[in-house]
Amino acid sequence: MREIGIIMNGVSGRMGYRQHLVRSILAIRDEGGIELSDGTKVTVRPLLVGRTESKLAEIAKRHGIEDWTTDLDAALADPRWEIYADFLVTKARSSALRKAIAAGKTIYTEKPTAESVEEALELARLAAAAGVKTGVVHDKLYLPGLRKLKRLIDSGFFGRILSVRGEFGYWVFEGDWQPAQRPSWNYRVEDGGGIIVDMFPHWNYVLENLFGEVRSVYTQASIHIPERWDEQGDKYETTAEDAAYGIFELDGGVVAQINSSWTVRVNRDELVEFHVDGTHGSAVVGLFGAKIQHRNATPKPVWNPDLADTHDYDADWAEVPTNDVFANGFRQQWEEFLDSYVLGTDYPFDLLAGARGVQLAAAGLQSAEEGRKVELPELSLEG
Ligand SMILES: NC(=O)c1ccc[n+]([C@@H]2O[C@H](COP(=O)([O-])OP(=O)(O)OC[C@H]3O[C@@H](n4cnc5c(N)ncnc54)[C@H](O)[C@@H]3O)[C@@H](O)[C@H]2O)c1
Repeated sequence: MREIGIIMNGVSGRMGYRQHLVRSILAIRDEGGIELSDGTKVTVRPLLVGRTESKLAEIAKRHGIEDWTTDLDAALADPRWEIYADFLVTKARSSALRKAIAAGKTIYTEKPTAESVEEALELARLAAAAGVKTGVVHDKLYLPGLRKLKRLIDSGFFGRILSVRGEFGYWVFEGDWQPAQRPSWNYRVEDGGGIIVDMFPHWNYVLENLFGEVRSVYTQASIHIPERWDEQGDKYETTAEDAAYGIFELDGGVVAQINSSWTVRVNRDELVEFHVDGTHGSAVVGLFGAKIQHRNATPKPVWNPDLADTHDYDADWAEVPTNDVFANGFRQQWEEFLDSYVLGTDYPFDLLAGARGVQLAAAGLQSAEEGRKVELPELSLEG
């Protein structure tokens, strides 16, 4: 069985450790590998890379991993390691990716791929010029709710899709009378914070893979809570938006509105929900659930605010059953990427797709600053 060596940089972090190392790569290794779409079997061998030897040694010991190092350059120079995977903080990413591309490694990385569109596009171009395969995490597409939505779209359930309304968010405590449940850098623009940079790369791949590429964006961004309390209990001024109200025009005419907020109290079934309306049917999907209403089951309300409406609108929706077993989304994407890498097939979620995510975040910020709609020019590898 072929063993694929994977350099894993940033495994002490939240995403690197839990989602990529434990739930994806070690899960694949511990199950004896995976079978690819052509029937061949492959397994994986991780090399842990980081800045602190003791942390790496501890993780390696806990999981029976033989290889770890603090020397990224040596790892990149060693042909035993075929793939470079990056889960670092965003600020540290582009310099590491540049080195890995120059070393001819296959790339797999968290989002956002860079801090600016220019840099994200340059990375995509460097990889293309070096003939290096790349993959960028698109995890939300693998959530059961969104997979059910994809199936509804593919089956023609909606007829012509008209619009999408997304609600994402929850209340993040200010940190004084209850500790905040997100790190304080999220609320400081100088530290890379803000909900636009965090969430718009996700909205970009969700929208373009389900409904159409984003052509323009209008965003109203707000700093609703002007001061918060950090991990040490010290008060600080917030400089990054904690809510973004976005309107996205998509290829093909679908209009999407997505509210992203750390300053809303949840009155929905899930922390994110998308409501999709089409000529023949509508759906409301979350991370896990999906409910639908067909045109033939659509009630005919008549607007009369003088009369209390006794109709039970919730009862008009039917639950979509979970007909599949959905594995962890990060692992599913890893398996698809490995399949594409070994078999040499095209991989759609590449560094150019990652650059489009960075582009949408930048356009969202620009729109909020200038108070106008911003068009998104098509990004290409030529230039
Ligand atoms: N796909 C998703 O849903 C999702 C969710 C959260 C975060 N992310 C992305 O994943 C990445 C990591 O986020 P996280 O929440 O795991 O962060 P984290 O702070 O938990 O981990 C970051 C890792 O980077 C390392 N690191 C920090 N500063 C460094 C530096 N200057 N040089 C080298 N290494 C450094 C840390 O040691 C750690 O291993 C970010 O780019 C973030 O945008 C993605």
